[in-house]
Amino acid sequence: MGNSMGSERGPEDGEGAGYSMEPAEKFPLTDVCHHYEGKHEVPWDIQKYFAQRYSIFSWYDEGVYLTDDAWFGVTPEPVANQIAIDIGAADEKKTILIDAFAGAGGNTIAFALSERWKRVIAIERDASALACAQHNAEIYGVDPSMITWIHGDSFEYLDALANHPGKLHPDLRVNMDTTVLFSSPPWGGPGYRSDEVFDLHTMRPYSLDQLHEAYKPMDHVLFLPRTSNIRQVAKLAPTGCKIEVVQYCMQGASKAMAAYVPARKPTSRDDKPGEEPPVEDRMSTDSDSSPSVEKSTAPANGSDSSES
Ligand SMILES: C[S@@+](CC[C@H](N)C(=O)[O-])C[C@H]1O[C@@H](n2cnc3c(N)ncnc32)[C@H](O)[C@@H]1O
Repeated sequence: MGNSMGSERGPEDGEGAGYSMEPAEKFPLTDVCHHYEGKHEVPWDIQKYFAQRYSIFSWYDEGVYLTDDAWFGVTPEPVANQIAIDIGAADEKKTILIDAFAGAGGNTIAFALSERWKRVIAIERDASALACAQHNAEIYGVDPSMITWIHGDSFEYLDALANHPGKLHPDLRVNMDTTVLFSSPPWGGPGYRSDEVFDLHTMRPYSLDQLHEAYKPMDHVLFLPRTSNIRQVAKLAPTGCKIEVVQYCMQGASKAMAAYVPARKPTSRDDKPGEEPPVEDRMSTDSDSSPSVEKSTAPANGSDSSES
């Protein structure tokens, strides 16, 4: 089976057979899920993030929950909303959005509320983070039918989707040609901040190569440290395609970059093969409540092979 798939039935489809992955039920909040109300309750290493809680979740006081780990990685709401708008500009044939690392739901909620997608598939392997994300989606009034949650490993899911779709519950089988994937992986802790140029090949726990290998059949968006090595990103471009790189800023400071990477297949090519893509520089400044967005297009290297 190739990249695109429909309702193929697999050997596990027989009556009573279990699937290797199924939609997750509602997970209960655990004792590592917190809604901190005052600074005195907050561990010292999270206090900086707690001080920014309303830029992270504007409805924080409605009862948003996070795990202590999730504070470090959650995408602030204005950035998540802008990304949802930018991804939403994808070809209208794209109807499914996969969020490969749902965390506490920062991006998933924005995607679901954008009303751009028929369905959002949100994957998270940490049960407590997943419980927070589900809870936060409820707080934000997301229609429960909009998000299909998966408790598990997103690489395992993508491998099954591409190679053994019959192992997946039918609700998890999507057509990769009409799907866009968003990936906000862990960046290996705050150490990335000290690097003038962040080496994406040494990013942990998942390197750029590992991410790209899993995602390349689909249009995908990589949410990466702001200082990421843009040359390494540009080399992911399929022949004749360009990758758009956007810096997402709040109060003038970049929070992160996102690389919009086309799928490796001819149908998604914008440009004629061999043409050098134009380099664009655009800047738009929004109000304080939304991030200013700086866009520049990374030149593709014209190579169709993964860089290593
Ligand atoms: C940077 S956070 C994502 C933050 C999220 N975008 C948000 O706004 O809340 C990365 C998340 O990926 C989860 N994770 C790490 N490896 C994973 C994997 N292989 N499959 C699914 N989730 C994974 C971690 O537990 C963590 O919650």
